[in-house]
Amino acid sequence: METIKILGINGSNRRGGNSRFLLDQALAAAALAVPGCVDTEIYETGGRTYLPCTACDRCHSKLGVCRLEDDFAELRDKWLEADALIYSVPVYHAGIPGHLKCFIDRLGESVVEGFFSKQMKVVGCVTSGTGIATGQESVMNFINAHAMMLGCLPFAGEWPGAYTGAGGWTHVDPRKNALKDLHAGNDETTAYLVKSTRNMAAGIAQLAVLIKTGARQKQVHDLLEKSGRYTMFLRRISGTKPLAIEKPYDYFATDEDTQLEFDED
Ligand SMILES: Cc1cc2nc3c(=O)[nH]c(=O)nc-3n(C[C@H](O)[C@H](O)[C@H](O)COP(=O)(O)O)c2cc1C
Repeated sequence: METIKILGINGSNRRGGNSRFLLDQALAAAALAVPGCVDTEIYETGGRTYLPCTACDRCHSKLGVCRLEDDFAELRDKWLEADALIYSVPVYHAGIPGHLKCFIDRLGESVVEGFFSKQMKVVGCVTSGTGIATGQESVMNFINAHAMMLGCLPFAGEWPGAYTGAGGWTHVDPRKNALKDLHAGNDETTAYLVKSTRNMAAGIAQLAVLIKTGARQKQVHDLLEKSGRYTMFLRRISGTKPLAIEKPYDYFATDEDTQLEFDED
């Protein structure tokens, strides 16, 4: 069977906290769902630097290369190589943490073909806040929109609680071990959160195997190739470095091409 790579991104600035606890649960369940076929890696964003996009547009003309020098490129390359992604994200001010937003802003601009070429990664979101309905939905919606914008497939819908992602709360406990302790104490809502997280991750692994296996079939592969819509995906499964973009992004090649026409009066 196909081997898939799942990248777990810990979107918290605090390493070893609640987001990491949920991510460990997710990746363990994903590995069990397709035994022997899942490579997992956890990437910590905490302590790393992702400067804000300066809208210089250089990545559009320089083969996706960002001029800012920080930790962005390492995670971008891992992101591009993964068959599936699980984001574990704490709620910050009813949204995602700023450093993760900076990374995603730049990823979206740098993966220039991504807007035109389906990535076909399966993406899921796990999130926790201290409060009970205090931004979790916004975090999931954002990650799902990010996935769709880059031609990925948001995954959710697993009972008992992952309708658009798996979300939970720490019962107003700000500590990094809050969820771990609640789970060890058999807290019911944390049990739901963990179960939702694990079910979602298992489904992500299985769908990623299905997609990759299906695309290897000659007729399907030929169809995808001919359509021109799946270049990034087909590069990934063929082992070609996914960011090797041969031609510069030329969507804004001439003013005439993009100029909007208005009536004089
Ligand atoms: C800057 C900041 C903003 C936060 N904002 C929210 C919030 O809006 N809603 C919420 O429920 N929790 C909020 N929290 C709490 C965290 O989301 C929560 O403690 C989470 O479980 C932390 O995960 P971690 O241990 O992986 O960092 C915030 C925490 C920080 C540090």
